[in-house]
Amino acid sequence: MRILLCGGAGYIGAHAYVVLVERGHDVVVADNFSNSSPGVLARLRQITGRPVPFQPLDLRDRDAVTGFFAHQAFDAVVHFAALKSVGESCERPLDYFHNNIGGTLNLLHGMREAGVERLVFSSSATVYGDPDHVPVREDARLQVTNPYGRTKLVMEELIGDLCRSDAGFHAANLRYFNPVGAHASGLIGEDPTGIPNNLMPYICQVAVGRRDRLSVFGGDWPTVDGTGVRDYIHVMDLARAHADALDFLVRERRSLTVNVGTGQGVSVLQLVEAFAQAAARRIPYQVVARRPGDVAEVYADPSLAQRTLGWRAELGVEAMCRDAWRWQSQNPQGYPVA
Ligand code: NAD
Ligand code: UFG
Repeated sequence: MRILLCGGAGYIGAHAYVVLVERGHDVVVADNFSNSSPGVLARLRQITGRPVPFQPLDLRDRDAVTGFFAHQAFDAVVHFAALKSVGESCERPLDYFHNNIGGTLNLLHGMREAGVERLVFSSSATVYGDPDHVPVREDARLQVTNPYGRTKLVMEELIGDLCRSDAGFHAANLRYFNPVGAHASGLIGEDPTGIPNNLMPYICQVAVGRRDRLSVFGGDWPTVDGTGVRDYIHVMDLARAHADALDFLVRERRSLTVNVGTGQGVSVLQLVEAFAQAAARRIPYQVVARRPGDVAEVYADPSLAQRTLGWRAELGVEAMCRDAWRWQSQNPQGYPVA
């Protein structure tokens, strides 16, 4: 298939690019580099051994999006492009609505005009908010606790309406849990700008000496050791789910919303310990107050993905930590600045 990756220069998109090329697809990356580095393209070329087709594109620019689709033929789109910081979304909700929802509308419009009828969408476990029970199934109550989460929920709904209105248009909403880790080459990985919001990149920066110590947000949660429990998923397993979802859309000609997680809950301190083992170094930390908006425990019931996509996670916490550390230690400052 000829596949467009919107936001394909970002963390998850770059890993999905590698998997899709390995599966024999013809893949084009489109991005505005608002949260990524052009340096990733050279790394993708190094990994795949071939030039990386790239299109500068800002999804907020509707004319640019429709113009682009008018001159290209695609069999499917994988849509990663979004702003994704929960805290920032509370400070600048309109930017999130404009970029995430507005950008998605422009993309859907461009796809419709060009007759592209397959979409894989990056959704998030954030649509479950604070779940009533774990493991969380896809039919759990949906609730959002911040503007970022609202954009994901709204986008799922918009895409659902479009699918219902057009029997030929099919989408796979993938609800990612907590993606971590990196490609085994250590050439691509997560490279957040500024202070990392998320646990694994923070641990990586402590390990490599860029930050003194980790703050563990709360030691009094009702969990195994008092720290927050999440479902960390290796980014290469997650990348593979996109390829499997595209196969599903071709094979089954129907839409799907599915969790992409391991089904295993891991606490903050368990992850810190696993990372310390993998990197063979101490990770200094201190337990501080809970982070506003956090929840105790979220992990997936991934059985629908197994039944529908034939997908299941293969890599465990050890591989996640080993690969995250390889990326960080080989690239202490992230991608080289061009
Ligand atoms: P990322 O920021 O690394 O990648 C997103 C990419 O989209 C970036 O390269 C950015 O430059 C690009 N982009 C953003 N707005 C754009 C626009 N208007 N036009 C063109 N390109 C644009 O994030 P990621 O971690 O790779 O996440 C990918 C997707 O998965 C996002 O939609 C995110 O919300 C979702 N998701 C991520 C996580 C996570 O923890 N990383 C969890 C659940 C869901
Ligand atoms: N944590 C710390 N210290 C840190 C960062 C995080 O203790 O410096 C803790 C959090 O309190 C939480 C756990 O580590 O218990 C994981 O936190 P992350 O920020 O890495 O991940 P979240 O589960 O809070 O949220 C992430 C994304 C959301 C997304 C969700 C599910 O930020 O947007 O995963 O996909 F919705």
